[in-house]
Amino acid sequence: MTTVLVAGGAGYIGTHTTVALVEKGFDVVCVDNYSNSSPEALKRVEQIIGKPVRAYEGDLRDEELLDQIFTENNIDWVIHFAGMKAVGESVEKPLEYYDNNVGGALVLLRSMRRHGVKKIIFSSSATVYGDPQTLPITEETPAAQATNPYGWTKVFEEQILTDLHRADPDWTVVLLRYFNPVGAHESGLIGEDPKGIPANLTPYVAKVAIGELDKVNVFGDDYNTADGTGVRDYIHVMDLAQGHVAAASNINKTGVYVYNLGTGHGYSVLEVIKAYEKAVGKAIPYVIQPRRDGDVASSYADASKAQHDLHWQARYTMDDMAATSMNWQQNNPHGYQK
Ligand code: NAD
Ligand code: UFG
Repeated sequence: MTTVLVAGGAGYIGTHTTVALVEKGFDVVCVDNYSNSSPEALKRVEQIIGKPVRAYEGDLRDEELLDQIFTENNIDWVIHFAGMKAVGESVEKPLEYYDNNVGGALVLLRSMRRHGVKKIIFSSSATVYGDPQTLPITEETPAAQATNPYGWTKVFEEQILTDLHRADPDWTVVLLRYFNPVGAHESGLIGEDPKGIPANLTPYVAKVAIGELDKVNVFGDDYNTADGTGVRDYIHVMDLAQGHVAAASNINKTGVYVYNLGTGHGYSVLEVIKAYEKAVGKAIPYVIQPRRDGDVASSYADASKAQHDLHWQARYTMDDMAATSMNWQQNNPHGYQK
């Protein structure tokens, strides 16, 4: 049986990926410091998969803990989700972001090397493309273009992993560049649980839909897009999870592999709001605000490389994303807090 260490396994994408891996017959071990999650999330995962998850509580920068994990488990692959991800916060706290994200990756990679584990799947982001000159975005679109410290941590981590493979070609490095993950597992037991007021569109819309927030602030309606609002490639989190399963299942040669994980379709802010209105059967109030600093007009993927190489394709629609997101939100208005 293939064993996967899921670093950041209690987080939004980590929980969904753990479910998908176990359902595909992988053995999973998690490590998380719960800085942006809670042990309750893994209890919910256990409820879905019907068996316990082996989980270690601790920080990726704790070298002793990592050595213990690799000694106690026969790990084949590592999936590295354990990063901080709030763009605005990263501008305020660059040192904390570089320390946690880049520092955490370095400790993890050193420990992997010591234990002869040389296969890693890394959570990168479409943010590495910055403001792309052409659409859709392919893996050949110039990257290394971040506009904030969070984005730079992704660029640097991609570079570190690429250099590591260059120095030791026995490594298998998979860089998955996610577009905008949305939605939740159909059970409504796990989902996105941001702390405080959400900075991202879809969790904000979900909170307006349940009446916790007044109205959605639409950042700009004067972009060069069909309705003037920003366009993004939203992808269902279970499709994203399956992308990791596909990578771990299909990549069996050493090398550096880069894949966009998106649907290939762009939706505007107003179209997203409409999908949520359909999911809840009522109007969702919104107000047009000025553009948000640093936003690009449009971003969507050409995801054909992942389809060709990994036999993976996004299956869920925007309506599915809105419906599962609302199912999670309505069943868990306070997230994992009871
Ligand atoms: P998340 O915050 O829900 O999950 C990350 C998990 O890692 C959390 O459970 C957190 O407690 C844990 N963690 C953070 N730092 C840690 C450390 N030093 N040691 C141990 N655990 C630590 O975020 P997510 O949305 O699931 O994102 C997962 C990864 O995907 C992140 O690296 C993120 O940057 C990347 N990503 C996310 C998005 C998105 O929009 N959600 C888009 C592109 C890329
Ligand atoms: N938006 C609003 N109102 C809000 C929040 C967002 O109108 O309250 C708009 C934005 O202007 C943008 C779109 O909704 O047009 C999506 O914004 P998000 O903040 O949800 O997502 P981003 O595309 O800005 O960024 C997200 C993550 C990044 C990641 C990127 C690509 O926050 O970390 O997706 O994966 F890099």
